Amino acid sequence: MTRRAEFEMCLFVVLQSMFLFSLCSSQEFLPEISPDTSPQPFLPFIAPSPMVPYINSTMPKLSGLCSLNFTASESLIQTTSHNCWTVFAPLLANVMCCPQLDASLTIILGKASEETGLLALNRTQSKHCLLDLEQILVGKGASSQLGRICSIHSSNLTASSCPVINVDEFESTVDTSKLLLACEKVDPVKECCEQTCQNAILDAATNITMKASEPLTDNSERINDCKNIVNRWLATKLDSSRAKETLRGLANCKINRVCPLVFPHMRHIGGNCSNELSNQTGCCRAMESYVSHLQKQTLITNLQALDCATSLGTKLQKLNITKNIFSVCHISLKDFSLQESGCLLPSLPSDAIFDKDSGISFTCDLNDNIPAPWPDSSQSSASTCKKPVRIPALPAAASSQPGLYNEEVKRLVILFLSMVLVMLLS
Ligand SMILES: *[C@@H]1O[C@H](CO)[C@@H](O)[C@H](O)[C@H]1NC(C)=O
Ligand SMILES: *[C@@H]1O[C@H](CO)[C@@H](O)[C@H](O)[C@H]1NC(C)=O
Ligand SMILES: *[C@@H]1O[C@H](CO)[C@@H](O)[C@H](O)[C@H]1NC(C)=O
Ligand SMILES: *[C@@H]1O[C@H](CO)[C@@H](O)[C@H](O)[C@H]1NC(C)=O
Ligand SMILES: *[C@@H]1O[C@H](CO)[C@@H](O)[C@H](O)[C@H]1NC(C)=O
Ligand SMILES: *[C@@H]1O[C@H](CO)[C@@H](O)[C@H](O)[C@H]1NC(C)=O
Ligand SMILES: *[C@@H]1O[C@H](CO)[C@@H](O)[C@H](O)[C@H]1NC(C)=O
Ligand SMILES: *[C@@H]1O[C@H](CO)[C@@H](O)[C@H](O)[C@H]1NC(C)=O
Repeated sequence: MTRRAEFEMCLFVVLQSMFLFSLCSSQEFLPEISPDTSPQPFLPFIAPSPMVPYINSTMPKLSGLCSLNFTASESLIQTTSHNCWTVFAPLLANVMCCPQLDASLTIILGKASEETGLLALNRTQSKHCLLDLEQILVGKGASSQLGRICSIHSSNLTASSCPVINVDEFESTVDTSKLLLACEKVDPVKECCEQTCQNAILDAATNITMKASEPLTDNSERINDCKNIVNRWLATKLDSSRAKETLRGLANCKINRVCPLVFPHMRHIGGNCSNELSNQTGCCRAMESYVSHLQKQTLITNLQALDCATSLGTKLQKLNITKNIFSVCHISLKDFSLQESGCLLPSLPSDAIFDKDSGISFTCDLNDNIPAPWPDSSQSSASTCKKPVRIPALPAAASSQPGLYNEEVKRLVILFLSMVLVMLLS
């Protein structure tokens, strides 16, 4: 973590504890719901007198040199600023903030092509426009570090290496009806397995890549750049909210496939948990300490937690640990998410919610105590699609433990922010 992220995280915890609860103690953070109670809505904490309305939504200073009409995308930008809210941006980067920022940029650039006939900005424009957009977002409460957090550069608003940006040329090169048919109605669950729209986008991107005057031996980067152009074109054919849903859905297919956590060195586990597990206490203590490092990193989705369990389990097996120490040490899926309170985000795209009385909140799929599945070393990493996993619902591994959790109990974690916080950070 960078110093700034640490600083923000620390403040986050401090401010939380200034209110009614502390993030450091899971029992206080979320009320315990015993496994056998029926699903019940989560009752938000009673907030102290709301401070959020005082957040200083500053008037951004714009360059005046960007031709994009940001006013036309007001609600997208609003949602982006909530998903990328100051302190939360690094914690939600992978799942909420950056995918929403990418989608917004794609839609804004797509809509601009209706006026200009071009699906990309030139270099000068791209610099002014990215700076202006950042200013607008920061003015609405977003982190000022979005460029770094989401690795967005002004080049991302240009054609990059894609040879086609002219709408007419695009439409005469690509089989647009085929592309639209595949992407007009994307079912975010089925799409991740069937990849109908993703394949059509790849196909279209490959076709426009071929228009390049100088051929390359490796076209993969160019095809990638062209995919952005295809996405922008698609965004002009769908209404704004459908376009957003589609782009976020496609992004989530990728997001859910990988564990975003960084795994530190495992030497203590190797020493304590070797083979015959002679000292279970020592092993579980080492595991707990290891997992607590993972928990400081980021909020993840329930499917990412499953990926993380697989990654960690596989690494342990490579250390010749054959016994299921997840089970021995009671490691559950929620143990991989930020803090012990275990908020796992839903696997489908979701947005942070802003309420002027209570601040920023987001919905967690709290899949309490679903044991982390120990990877079956005889199976080569089976993709999610081959497993009988219902994506928005829960991992197959969980269904063997009926009664241990309340499926689809949704609790809202209300996180209060205040003007104090914003001022401290700016
Ligand atoms: C908001 O912030 C700007 C600049 O940071 C400052 O000029 C302005 O007075 C502030 N407004 C309020 C209501 O605090
Ligand atoms: C920008 O879009 C808004 C809403 O669609 C519209 O009212 C406004 O006239 C546009 N501004 C310019 C400069 O085109
Ligand atoms: C870049 O685009 C803007 C707006 O479309 C245009 O006014 C400007 O002349 C272009 N600059 C260059 C160097 O092409
Ligand atoms: C932005 O461009 C950089 C290279 O300039 C690339 O590495 C990065 O993936 C791009 N980001 C997005 C969101 O496309
Ligand atoms: C891409 O080109 C191939 C071969 O010309 C064609 O069959 C396919 O329909 C095209 N796909 C799209 C989406 O343009
Ligand atoms: C066991 O784990 C502890 C930390 O929990 C560590 O200090 C110790 O060195 C480990 N022992 C071995 C043999 O790796
Ligand atoms: C097991 O490990 C723990 C912690 O490392 C240690 O306190 C305890 O003495 C060990 N027990 C045995 C029987 O080695
Ligand atoms: C695991 O066991 C194999 C065979 O017993 C051995 O060759 C290998 O070095 C061991 N790996 C580790 C990391 O201990």
